[in-house]
Amino acid sequence: MAKVVGGITTSHIPAIGNAMARELYDDPYWKEFFEGYIPAREWLGKVKPDVAVVIYNDHGLNWFLDEIPTFAMGAAKEYKNLDEGWGLSQLPPVPGDPELSWYVIESLVNNEFDLSMCQEMVVEHGCVIPLSLFWDPNNWPIKIIPLAVNTVQHPIPSARRCYKLGKALGQAIENYPEDQKVVILGTGGMSHQLQGERAGFINREFDLDFMDRLVDDPESLTDLTTTDLVRDAGSEGVELIMWLAMRGAMKDKVTAVHKHYHIPISNTAAGVLVLENSD
Ligand code: DHB
Ligand code: FE
Repeated sequence: MAKVVGGITTSHIPAIGNAMARELYDDPYWKEFFEGYIPAREWLGKVKPDVAVVIYNDHGLNWFLDEIPTFAMGAAKEYKNLDEGWGLSQLPPVPGDPELSWYVIESLVNNEFDLSMCQEMVVEHGCVIPLSLFWDPNNWPIKIIPLAVNTVQHPIPSARRCYKLGKALGQAIENYPEDQKVVILGTGGMSHQLQGERAGFINREFDLDFMDRLVDDPESLTDLTTTDLVRDAGSEGVELIMWLAMRGAMKDKVTAVHKHYHIPISNTAAGVLVLENSD
C-alpha cells in the first residue's frame, strides 16, 4: 500500500532559483536561508520518497486570470517547466506518475472535489523552485503529481476547503494498492505582499503562530477567512492555504522533525517545516 511518509513546507520565490544558479549558498544574504534546507534534504535522503505531491499555485503560466481552475491535478508522464519572466533557467522536465494521478483524481472526484485534470501541464516557479531546493534537477530522483490551487484570482478557495482537500488527498494515497512512499509539499507563503501600499508587508508574529498551530492545532487555522489571511499575512500570504492542504493529508498527530523561519528573503517570510505522522 502507498503511504504518506511526510509533509514539507517551503517558500517558492523565483529569486531562490537565481541564487542557486549563481551558487550563492555562502553569500551573507542567502546563507541562513539555505541552511534551513539542509535538515530537510537529510531527512529526504533517509526516507527516500518515490513520489511528491506538489501543492502549489500557478502565477500566470499555465493559466491566466481569464481562465483559472480552483483546483487542478496533473496526470502527465512528465512536466516541462518554463519561466514566466523571472530570468530562471529551464530545468530538465520532471517525471510524473500518471497511474497514481488518475487513482487520486478518481478518488477526489468521488469525494466531492471536482477538480480539473490535466494530461498536459507546464509548471513554473511555484512548483519547480521547491523541487530544486530538495532534489537534484540534473537527475530528478522523484516523480511528481502537481496539485495547483488558485491563490491569484479571487474568490480563492477557503483555508477550510483546502484542509479538507488535503484530508481527501491523504486518504486517496493511503488506499492506493501499490507500495509507494509519498511526500506532500505545501509551497508558498509565509506572509508577503508584492503589490499596493503594503508591498513588503511581513508579519513575523502571525507566521510563527501559524507554524506552531499547523503542527499541533491545524483545525483552528481553518477558521481563517480569506480576508483574515490578506489582512494578517498579506495579499500573497494567502498562499498559506496550500500549507493547510498539505497538513490535511497528514494524520491528526504529527511530529515536526525540522522547523526553520527566516525573514526576509526577497519580499517574503520563508518557513520550512518537515512533518512526520506520529500515529
Ligand atoms: C515573490 C514571492 C512569491 O510568492 C512569488 O510567487 C514571486 C515572488 C517574492 O517575494 O519575490
Ligand atoms: Fe508565489
